[in-house]
Amino acid sequence: MILVTGGAGFIGGNFILEWLAENGEAVVNLDKLTYAGNPDTLSTLTGDPRYVFVRGDIGDRTLVSALLSKHRPRAVINFAAESHVDRSIHGPREFIQTNVVGACNLLEAVRGYVDTLSPEGRAGFRFLHVSTDEVFGSLKESDPPFSESTPYRPSSPYSASKAASDHLMRAWHVTYGLPILTINCSNNYGPYQYPEKLIPLCILNALASKVLPVYGDGLQRRDWLYVRDHCRAVAAVLAQGIPGETYNVGGSSEKTNLEVVHGVCDILDRLRPREDGVSYAAQITFVVDRPGHDRRYAIDAARIRREIGWRPKETFESGLLKTVEWYLANEEWTKKATSGAYRNWVQMHYGT
Ligand code: NAD
Ligand code: DAU
Repeated sequence: MILVTGGAGFIGGNFILEWLAENGEAVVNLDKLTYAGNPDTLSTLTGDPRYVFVRGDIGDRTLVSALLSKHRPRAVINFAAESHVDRSIHGPREFIQTNVVGACNLLEAVRGYVDTLSPEGRAGFRFLHVSTDEVFGSLKESDPPFSESTPYRPSSPYSASKAASDHLMRAWHVTYGLPILTINCSNNYGPYQYPEKLIPLCILNALASKVLPVYGDGLQRRDWLYVRDHCRAVAAVLAQGIPGETYNVGGSSEKTNLEVVHGVCDILDRLRPREDGVSYAAQITFVVDRPGHDRRYAIDAARIRREIGWRPKETFESGLLKTVEWYLANEEWTKKATSGAYRNWVQMHYGT
């Protein structure tokens, strides 16, 4: 069996659903259930003997050590993190606490557990850390995409905390020999994403006749990857990756934020047109820019394609269509996700 952390979040939740459907190996999901953790994502697994949920913090070494010795996993996959850049600007401490201190405590618990394994158990054990392309900082228009050897230059408290966690991973591999794999992935989108992130925020705001807030000039560029393609990359690197190595993952799909928001509007115009016949694009509103906003990210995913044989199944167009369709069909999930804590966030960050 495997231990997944942060599995009630967007990517971890999609990963567990995909893993149990495709692979069937049992999963223990350790999640603190912060505002971003939503057990509803995994409600179809209720009663499934292959799935165990534990509410807890990756920074709680006693708890993690107890879970490891009870379940004896052959692998740990760390999705748990504070993940939203804007929140890290409003309050960086929680990001340091989970993404750095929490990651360190998790590593220490895993190190203690690996020491108890037989030589064969130790040889087969893997720890996969899920990280981000944001650790590399911002690219200029003419720069080549990020490769695995691009130097780290994080810009936000979020990306700095993820960069720190990546360095811890490397150090625990080099110093203690822990078999650690790291993935640095670009922007994910798809079902079950908390609607603080650009794509689900725009879908829900459009339907609620609210503004679609575009930071600055909207010409910042991101590489976009459908979440299930990232999940398949995680499974493939877990199976075939070389311990101590890092793998960049992306969709080769660079878009400006304005292109992304227009893409959402175009699909909604077709699937659920406004009653007045006007395009949802009329709701696009330019708002004050994010401080320290990275201008451009792009990923060179040649290594994982060449060495692991992974490639995305979805194009941006097919993935975005699936995503919008999912949000239209799952209003109950979004209704629950956007109550309470969500409203406070929107009020605090965007004002009225
Ligand atoms: P998310 O915010 O949707 O989910 C994070 C999950 O971690 C939540 O379920 C939350 O409850 C849990 N969590 C937070 N702190 C915890 C703690 N201390 N202990 C246990 N659980 C805790 O995030 P996501 O978008 O699913 O991202 C997952 C991982 O992938 C993160 O490490 C993120 O940095 C990375 N990543 C995300 C993207 C993206 O586009 N979303 C892209 C590349 C990498
Ligand atoms: O690149 C990978 C990263 O992608 C992950 O590590 C992060 O966890 C994930 O949140 C995401 O970070 P971004 O900051 O790129 O995602 P976000 O959806 O917040 O913003 C995408 C772009 O859209 C970014 O340039 C900021 C802009 N934006 C965002 C919001 C929420 C807007 O213009 N308006 C908005 O209201």
